[in-house]
Amino acid sequence: MKVINTIKELKNERLNLGSRVGFVPTMGNLHAGHLRLLENSLRLCDHHIVSIFVNPTQFGEGEDFESYPRTLEADLEKIKSICPEAIIFTPTTKEVYGDEVVNYFKAPAIADMLEGNLRPGHFDGVLTIVHKLFEIVMPDHAFFGKKDYQQLKLISEHAKNYFPALEIHPVEIEREVSGLAMSSRNGYLTQEQKDEAITLYRTLSFIEKKLITEKDLRGSLEYIQQTLENDERFNYLSIRKQSDLTPPLDMSSPLVILGNFQLGQTRLLDNIEVSI
Ligand code: PAF
Repeated sequence: MKVINTIKELKNERLNLGSRVGFVPTMGNLHAGHLRLLENSLRLCDHHIVSIFVNPTQFGEGEDFESYPRTLEADLEKIKSICPEAIIFTPTTKEVYGDEVVNYFKAPAIADMLEGNLRPGHFDGVLTIVHKLFEIVMPDHAFFGKKDYQQLKLISEHAKNYFPALEIHPVEIEREVSGLAMSSRNGYLTQEQKDEAITLYRTLSFIEKKLITEKDLRGSLEYIQQTLENDERFNYLSIRKQSDLTPPLDMSSPLVILGNFQLGQTRLLDNIEVSI
């Protein structure tokens, strides 16, 4: 396994790889969800590059950039256990941004709702770093988890516009036995909060059943309204069209139920896709 810190070295290494290069961008603190992304790369690609970089420009003021868990040694062990031939890219902030740690992409309007409404500017940061990483790594395939559904949509659109030869692969959410979606931020939760966190998945699953069995969009929207009024832990809970994340008028197109649930300082995301 090669660990590379500089852009120059990574680009040199990349020149020797040819095609079918798979890329898994991460911020480290890897869990089974990240390893699933890498397994997908292993299935499809001949070479595998994983980036580990906690990107400052996607964190807002008062968010957890400073305290975000940095667990490089453990991360490398996990990668090695399933992909000893992987190339790991772990640049410093200076290496990536030089002296100007700023965003140079303004995310499109789809970024303003849901997560973007809670975290203004967050997706400008995500698109900026993903664009930079795609330019450096020049992957043929890149793998992103569906847990960050809005992020995945934005990155897919961005890649279509700027990297048309690159194929973006959405990967299913990895869940704990309880149903809780795996996330690096789950590590912030106490056991009591983890038990509480299951409410998010249960609520999404309840709405999914309602949509599938009763085909009742209106009733589901009323249920969501009541939940939001009665449970302030939900930052949002919403049914959207999978295609563009706008609110649906009917159930004729594939839908996705998205939620953001707050426990203490920790915000948890989850979603369930529904096709009827
Ligand atoms: O999903 C993440 O871990 C990050 O947003 C990403 C895509 C690696 C960009 O920093």
